[in-house]
Amino acid sequence: MTSYAETAGAVQTADTAVVRGPHAVVVRLHVNGTPRTVLVEPRVSLLDALRDRLGLTGTKKGCDQGACGACTVWVDRRRVLACLTLAIACETHEITTIEGLSDGVDLHPMQQAFLDHDAFQCGYCTPGQIMSAVAFLAEGHAADDDQIREWMSGNLCRCAAYPNIRAAIRQVRDAATNHLPATAAEGGSARPGPAGAGPASGGGPDATA
Ligand code: FES
Ligand code: FES
Repeated sequence: MTSYAETAGAVQTADTAVVRGPHAVVVRLHVNGTPRTVLVEPRVSLLDALRDRLGLTGTKKGCDQGACGACTVWVDRRRVLACLTLAIACETHEITTIEGLSDGVDLHPMQQAFLDHDAFQCGYCTPGQIMSAVAFLAEGHAADDDQIREWMSGNLCRCAAYPNIRAAIRQVRDAATNHLPATAAEGGSARPGPAGAGPASGGGPDATA
């Protein structure tokens, strides 16, 4: 009979520590509220697991080395670079991608604001920009344009849509300031959104000027 450890590609060592891989192993992820299972080598990035194994191609691969922010997703509601994160390290964590941002009917206010302000040209960076923007607003770092530039500096846009991106962010910020969100009991939205501070999605230069 095959044990779970063998099925999952795990090897039992003498001191009982479990080593998984280097061959493909079963990795259980929780993506956009749904349990998902992928068979990947432990070296596979979260970005490749999402795009190539789960078909969630909204998350983009730009540089694949942590410099552009196109791959920004949330892990436990904190923004991370999926190209620098191992899929296997995300087991037991909640992953949110751009596909999970809206409620399935209406666009998230940040998605709508990007449309309202033409905050993209080719659109390749846009999913990462939006995931970062929603998160950093929740982190409380959008008091003025200088803060927006700084805290969005890990998300590069080769089309240089930065003024429009900032306008979209200001729209959502100001709407949130002027209209306190309703509680769930009052019929408020159940849209996903980061609850607290999180790390910046990347350490890129401030290219939002
Ligand atoms: S693809 Fe991940 S930072 Fe560029
Ligand atoms: S809209 Fe083209 S890279 Fe940003």
